[in-house]
Amino acid sequence: MNVLIIGAGGREYSIGLALKRDDKVEKIYFAPGNGATDTLGENLAISDFGALADFVEANGVDLTIVGPEAPLVEGIVDLFEARGLTIFGPSAKAAQLEGSKIFMKNFLARHNVPTAKYIETDSLEDAYTFINTLEAPIVVKADGLCGGKGVIIAQSHDEAKRAAGEMLSGNSFGEAGTSIVVEEFLDGYELSVFAICDGKDYVVLPAAQDHKRLLNNDEGPNTGGMGAYAPTPLVNEMIYQKLNERVIEPTLKGMEAEGMPFTGVLFIGVMVVKGEPIILEYNVRFGDPECEELMPLLKSPASELFYKAATGDLKSATIEFYDKYAVGVVMASKNYPYKSTPPAEIIIDDIYHEELHENAHISYAGVSRGEDGKLYASGGRVLVCVGVGESIKEAQERAYMLVGQVHFAGKQCRTDIAYQAL
Ligand code: AMP
Ligand code: GLY
Repeated sequence: MNVLIIGAGGREYSIGLALKRDDKVEKIYFAPGNGATDTLGENLAISDFGALADFVEANGVDLTIVGPEAPLVEGIVDLFEARGLTIFGPSAKAAQLEGSKIFMKNFLARHNVPTAKYIETDSLEDAYTFINTLEAPIVVKADGLCGGKGVIIAQSHDEAKRAAGEMLSGNSFGEAGTSIVVEEFLDGYELSVFAICDGKDYVVLPAAQDHKRLLNNDEGPNTGGMGAYAPTPLVNEMIYQKLNERVIEPTLKGMEAEGMPFTGVLFIGVMVVKGEPIILEYNVRFGDPECEELMPLLKSPASELFYKAATGDLKSATIEFYDKYAVGVVMASKNYPYKSTPPAEIIIDDIYHEELHENAHISYAGVSRGEDGKLYASGGRVLVCVGVGESIKEAQERAYMLVGQVHFAGKQCRTDIAYQAL
């Protein structure tokens, strides 16, 4: 099988790695890929969806996997399916679960999926009235895609009103903020749960925890995610069962009933409050860096999982995971997440710890290949050091041993990834 992966991050690199160890996979293409994905396959400098479909037809690509949300929201799946091509991801309509917070919140309400109390509005007056009924902190969200930055956790009523005013006037997020969601603050612990869906059936992956803040102890600014681990012991059978019955099943049934069956990754942002899973948000793709820890735990061939999901045939698949743990530590560039950083050469020591050869690896993200053939840190989140082990502690130790072998000017990382589990 030949596979095309759309995207350029560590997430797409890790999907490539999983396909690489799958005997059924022959060629892997990335569009556009990054400075390291060309060691796993071939990078394509094509971004137009029609031109990508042409490439797929001309080169016998059997399956396309879409990593990021933007092409999904823009309809790449619709275009490929109209041309009879097999692609893993939701249609543009179904991708609204991520593309519009208002669509998502109203969908959850229609299908009785537990979520924070909220209003959606484009009226400042209504926002103020609702804010007055809540206790601080209060959460204010821009409707559209804001690259993960459209959420303000306001510590006071005044701050919430200010945030609502700035979003609605278009000052903070432009068009994406001309409608907003105001909601109650949920106090609990956060999980990332992923269900691979084929429209009707689904496979739930081991639950993960992300670390969104830049600094240890969850301090500092929000980021795209500084590290993650899976499976988390903070989830028990009871929580999985509630997620299946109250969240995933009503969502898949609801999407089908509303004429937009959901195929792809349903990324469920969960807050567990007093043992009850409450939905913060949906995304329609893998989390990054969660994907980098989940792919190494996948025991079944990755091509089977994605192909069967894309063709509505998950029922016939038995998907297994290793009974192990994975911890991933993001190494970011100097100025992340504030501004870009000049490229810095990446130097990786010879790996002399025997145990790292089989149980640790790097997923490359914001890297580019220089004209000198060397690898440079060129993005915000540069790479993820992933350790796998029989325990979280062991996986964490291996991930950090690998971190110690990787050097580039200005590198930064958290030193406490997986702390909530230890
Ligand atoms: P979102 O983009 O909706 O995932 O929000 C980004 C982050 O804000 C989430 O990962 C949570 O950490 C936090 N957050 C969002 N909504 C709430 C809420 N209602 N209560 C508490 N934290 C929230
Ligand atoms: N790691 C969270 C995300 O990908 O949105």
